[in-house]
Amino acid sequence: MKLYSKVIFLFVLASTFILGGASGNQEVNVYSARHYDTDLALYKDFEKRTGIKVNLVEAESYTLIERVVNEGKYSPADILVTVDAGRLYRAEERGIFSPVQSEVLKSRIPAHLRHPDGLWFGLSKRARVIIYSKARGKPEGLNNYQDLANPRFKKKICVRSSSNIYNISMLAGMISHEGEAKAEAWAKGVVANLRKPPSGNDTSNIKAVASGECAISIVNSYYLARMIGSNPAIESKVGVIYPNQSSTGTHVNISGAGVLKHSPHRKNAILFLEYLTEARAQSLFVAANNEYPVVSTAELTETLKKMGTFREDQVNASDLGKNQAAAVRIYDRAGWR
Ligand SMILES: [Fe+2]
Repeated sequence: MKLYSKVIFLFVLASTFILGGASGNQEVNVYSARHYDTDLALYKDFEKRTGIKVNLVEAESYTLIERVVNEGKYSPADILVTVDAGRLYRAEERGIFSPVQSEVLKSRIPAHLRHPDGLWFGLSKRARVIIYSKARGKPEGLNNYQDLANPRFKKKICVRSSSNIYNISMLAGMISHEGEAKAEAWAKGVVANLRKPPSGNDTSNIKAVASGECAISIVNSYYLARMIGSNPAIESKVGVIYPNQSSTGTHVNISGAGVLKHSPHRKNAILFLEYLTEARAQSLFVAANNEYPVVSTAELTETLKKMGTFREDQVNASDLGKNQAAAVRIYDRAGWR
């Protein structure tokens, strides 16, 4: 046995041991890139109700995806839970998912938030919204993502780098609707309106808008909800615009999960996914991160209720994955660092 194969073999053996044996029936092995205590409470509830033990391995998305690939057919993993359609697409491309046909999942999750062939399912969603400094006033004529490219907003916009997957998926959505040429013209227009080179993350950009340093930014809804939740004064400083309400709808992305090709407990894995889409489980699952549920009957957090309802983009989340490469090339050409 070559050293590399030996290492992989020992790794798989160790994982199998740690996860309590891949052959047992009453368990499900979850590889998750989500790290929330409330998720743990939810898994405990699933255990109590079904008698199926949840064994959890937490790591960063790409680490988990490559781990499943390396473990191959000896992988003890049943499910991969991750965040962003772009990462689900990466997992899909690496060939680790196996399609699931579940009437329960189909009826509960809207079609645009799950893979057309059942390779993965959206479990929660987040909107990429436009925010503005209330101290500097509501920007006139800013209702759509497209408006951000209007020269009237010169030196007004602060936004994070284009290497960030949230920005990549947002542009991927625009490519789906308008094609690459228009998406590129838009990216160039936004770059021309930047106040400073792309920097920070969504949270630091919310702070920059709250302080009035920046007039406008683009951020994920849950960062804003989280900041309002911990500091209600933010609400009086930062305004929200849900873009494209009279056209394509606001861009949303998902947290999602798929059953793995070599899942040793496939039936339990499907039960686990179905459980996560029950209205009560959905409320807990999304409350962990102030995300929106994919099941409309689930309860929203108080902050999200205050932030208001909106019409969302119906483009299939799998298109966001397929257009990632084109989006990255466009950002490069547009000089959006
Ligand atoms: Fe995030």
